[in-house]
Amino acid sequence: MEKTEEKINTSKGTVLVTGGAGYIGSHTCVQLLEQGYHIVVVDNFVNSSPVSLERVTQITGQTFPWYRVDLRNRTQLAEVFEKHKIDWVIHFAALKAVGESVAKPLNYYENNLNATLSLLMVMQAHHCNKIVFSSSATVYGNPETLPLTEDCALRTTNPYGATKLMIEDMLHDICHADKDFTAVILRYFNPVGAHPSGLIGENPQGIPNNLTPYIAQVLTGKLPYLQVFGNDYDTPDGTGVRDYIHVCDLAQGHLQAIAKVQKSGVHTFNLGTGHGYSVLDVLHAFERAAGRKIPYQIKPRRAGDIAACYADPQRAAQELDWHAQYDLDAMARDLWRFYTQNPHGYDA
Ligand SMILES: NC(=O)c1ccc[n+]([C@@H]2O[C@H](COP(=O)([O-])OP(=O)(O)OC[C@H]3O[C@@H](n4cnc5c(N)ncnc54)[C@H](O)[C@@H]3O)[C@@H](O)[C@H]2O)c1
Repeated sequence: MEKTEEKINTSKGTVLVTGGAGYIGSHTCVQLLEQGYHIVVVDNFVNSSPVSLERVTQITGQTFPWYRVDLRNRTQLAEVFEKHKIDWVIHFAALKAVGESVAKPLNYYENNLNATLSLLMVMQAHHCNKIVFSSSATVYGNPETLPLTEDCALRTTNPYGATKLMIEDMLHDICHADKDFTAVILRYFNPVGAHPSGLIGENPQGIPNNLTPYIAQVLTGKLPYLQVFGNDYDTPDGTGVRDYIHVCDLAQGHLQAIAKVQKSGVHTFNLGTGHGYSVLDVLHAFERAAGRKIPYQIKPRRAGDIAACYADPQRAAQELDWHAQYDLDAMARDLWRFYTQNPHGYDA
């Protein structure tokens, strides 16, 4: 188990960030530190690098303790809880690639469910009863109506989504059994962008899963053109529409949750902008950010893809006073800055 030195700041409380070295976790760590929280990070770096934590320190000027711990190792996790009095847990740690989860379902069930079970049991043993959980819009499956509210029907179309739904169920059961337990479920739409400093972003490892890393690979010459799957959907330009949200807006949603949720029980919120952007909208935003054309070819629709998906973010606006600030151009500009400053990710 590795750790770094801790320097004290004036704190609103201590937040344990699981998966804090990852894409969304690292941005949330920056905002927690900047807004006066202590943080403790636990990550096994299966999909991240400790360099991102050094960058968090570079941005904020603050050091914090972090531990190379796999959440499934209950003994090591308990040691972290014994060392630090934790007020809230923000639980990002998970495997997240939908396609990989279809190919390797047991890895996803094993990691995501066992990591969460272990975390919840250690929390219970240490009388820590407040958690924010990273869920996903994937729990809505193929939407029947749009925009998606938190009360829409839930169904999963892949093993990754199944783990998210099962963990949501676990949290409901815990809150039913323990009336002092607070669980905030945040269903993210499509996080994009990077910190405006260009120092942290999504570490581009392996084959990308999402649209924007593909666009970046075309812009950096690693791929000759972007494949656009389907231009005959019932959408304004015929290409698929999704709700893209800047990762800094998403990160702020977690701080709003911690600050605003006072009552025990389960609280579920969509975190999306409420705007649908098409594949071509995203492509053109990156063309503006990079100052050049992005070649693309239209391909047949992919099996399982849906025409459109976007959030109704009203509940988060009303109950968390959370509002997305950044538009698509800012998402493209900040992501492009991260890629140009870190063409080989953190490992260069
Ligand atoms: N990025 C997205 O598009 C998206 C969308 C919806 C929901 N989410 C969810 O948000 C969370 C964070 O996503 P992200 O994009 O930052 O992913 P990420 O892969 O960048 O971060 C996840 C972090 O968890 C760590 N981790 C995984 N398993 C672990 C374990 N057993 N023990 C300790 N650490 C472990 C990884 O090393 C990584 O640092 C995940 O739960 C993901 O499912 C992400």
